Amino acid sequence: MLKYLLLLIPNVISLAVLSQSQAPINLQTKNTSLVLTVGGNNRLYQSYLGPRLAAPAEVEKLSGGREVYLTAGMENQFEPAIRLVHEDGNPSLELKYVSHNTQQEGTTSTTRIVLKDSVYPVEVVLQYKVYFNEDVITCSATIQHHEKKPVRLTQYASTMLHFSADNYWLTQFHGDWAREVNMVEEKLTNGIKSIESKLGTRANFYQTPAFFLSLNNPATETSGELIAGTLAWTGNFQFTFEIDQRNQLRVRPGINPFASDYTLQPGEVFTTPEFTFTYSNQGKGQASRNLHRWARNYAVLDGKGPRLTLLNNWEATYFNFNEEKLIELFDGAKQLGVDLFLLDDGWFGNAFPRNDDKAGLGDWQENKSKLPNGIGRLVQEAEKKGIKFGIWLEPEMVNPKSELYQKHPDWILRLPNRPENLARNQLVLDLTNPKVQDFVFSIVDDMLTKNPGVAFIKWDCNRSMTNAYSAYLKEKQSHLFIEYTRCLYKVMERIRAKYPHLPVMLCSGGGGRTDYGGLKYFTEFWPSDNTDGLERIFIQWGYSYFFPANTIAAHITSMGKGQSLKFRTDVAMSGKLGYDIRVNEFTPQELQFSQEAVKTYKRISDIIWLGDLYRIISPYEENRSVVMYVNENKSKAILFNYILNVRRKDIFTRVQLQGLDPKKKYRIKEINLFPGTKAGNPDNDKVFTGDYLMTVGINLTPGKVTSLTSNVFEITEE
Ligand code: GLA
Repeated sequence: MLKYLLLLIPNVISLAVLSQSQAPINLQTKNTSLVLTVGGNNRLYQSYLGPRLAAPAEVEKLSGGREVYLTAGMENQFEPAIRLVHEDGNPSLELKYVSHNTQQEGTTSTTRIVLKDSVYPVEVVLQYKVYFNEDVITCSATIQHHEKKPVRLTQYASTMLHFSADNYWLTQFHGDWAREVNMVEEKLTNGIKSIESKLGTRANFYQTPAFFLSLNNPATETSGELIAGTLAWTGNFQFTFEIDQRNQLRVRPGINPFASDYTLQPGEVFTTPEFTFTYSNQGKGQASRNLHRWARNYAVLDGKGPRLTLLNNWEATYFNFNEEKLIELFDGAKQLGVDLFLLDDGWFGNAFPRNDDKAGLGDWQENKSKLPNGIGRLVQEAEKKGIKFGIWLEPEMVNPKSELYQKHPDWILRLPNRPENLARNQLVLDLTNPKVQDFVFSIVDDMLTKNPGVAFIKWDCNRSMTNAYSAYLKEKQSHLFIEYTRCLYKVMERIRAKYPHLPVMLCSGGGGRTDYGGLKYFTEFWPSDNTDGLERIFIQWGYSYFFPANTIAAHITSMGKGQSLKFRTDVAMSGKLGYDIRVNEFTPQELQFSQEAVKTYKRISDIIWLGDLYRIISPYEENRSVVMYVNENKSKAILFNYILNVRRKDIFTRVQLQGLDPKKKYRIKEINLFPGTKAGNPDNDKVFTGDYLMTVGINLTPGKVTSLTSNVFEITEE
């Protein structure tokens, strides 16, 4: 029997008796309840987290559990959610319940719970936003005090969640450049496991700020009890998982406090980023679908809005282009039928031309020899050809070989008394300085003011912070990591106030920035510089756990040894499709195939972008991968079947589809075929009930199985 998260076991730390005066705070979504209660000692306890409790009278009876926002300096012997040192040097804090209120807004509600210390004038407000229909809860905290002098905050988690199970299984996603989001699941043992970033910028270079925590047994796609969690913070994050001597688990998500003691002034409000979680007792698939729906409805800029298909020139030209060559490339975009041409790195810098990655960053003027007539001419030419024009920027960075570096050495993060530490030959600008914020804003604003036709931006960030020191922050160096991210958001707020719907891709040397703090301002992200189709099956699979397909940019390029254009196209189609390839090198058949593919994609992209994702066969488990998107009323679905590097031992069984309506009848049709090839599946163009497709299933590999091949099936209600 499942052991739900009913935390009734009293222990030395938090033996609580329900106060008679305060009824439980019942935070409930369609399928989940999180119940908080106030003890006789007036502290706040997490008494329950699990499937929604049906009977209000029974919720009323709940009491005890673990203290929600554990403090330091008193009797708690484990990692605290908050630690602060008062102005008199005293490091203790006791948070007692004062009041709470709930505001309803449509199907969401926000509950604010005020906690105060009775000895020191410190107040913490815990905020829970409940997304009823999506089964998602976001948690954050604000910390404030009215002591005479500043206090020092050394820990400031967004929340703390407590679990009681026999075993805990953690799934994390880690990687490096061009090999992002590798998934690993492990059993947690007593002690602390931490997943974190200390990189400042490009913060998710090595670790993605998202995890699954399965209770008792590892959850599968369709079964098991778990939470999926992610932090909306484009900077240093930390998730700690601590199991105590009684096998109880505390999950602490938040900003990484590493090197970030925060001096909080009297009256100043410190707000943590939001931790988002969803609880599922039907496996990881359901958790992902909850998050995707929440993301599209609330968390991603224009999450349900249209997206532009594009042709990018990065892998086609790198830095080597001029006006003429680019205008020729526009023809490729037009031939393909995509919406937009995206000009990548290398178009700027005059005193220090950007002809490679060694110079020019920071000097955002068109390079006169490459683009004598400026961006304006390119926009015009693109428009003449019936396509839109987009541009690459990396506004937070500078090359030492640049005019910006010469003019504003004080705008750069670097130690005053040690040699500079370059990465990709560049340094990070000090965004905490308001003049730098103005500069960064003006890069975007000038571009769009001078060229109102610019319809898309790719915002890059190609290095993390090392040897970082802010001339602006002076003695407050320990605020740098936090302040930098806050200031990035400040700049984005300004940009979005003026350009609310401009599509902007969040890129960071591949997938170095993949979080919902950023996606509030961006419409999509660049998951990886690795566009090899086989690798992308894994990379896109990893991101799909937490992000909807319309945010995961997937471009068809010439990377991918031994992979046909058909295979690479089918892989990109399961995300937000784009191209980064020399179209003029296509064979006539490849061009015809790609033109048809773009048309097909435009026809079916609503199902992929807005539909429910079912991950049916994992590339981590078999030498194939099958995923499926189903639209809301279950009348249409798209199924992707990818064969990886097949080995002799591989036996591929029938595939049971998911997410269909058992009572409906569906026609299965293979689409996106390469010219001259035919659908080889005997079930092609046949009609089956949803019930049959989901129980008996279909054989997706009826003939000889060949490595690196793929099929796309359109499944339509008859
Ligand atoms: C990063 C991005 C690439 C490309 C280059 C340009 O590596 O991830 O897509 O834009 O920068 O320098």
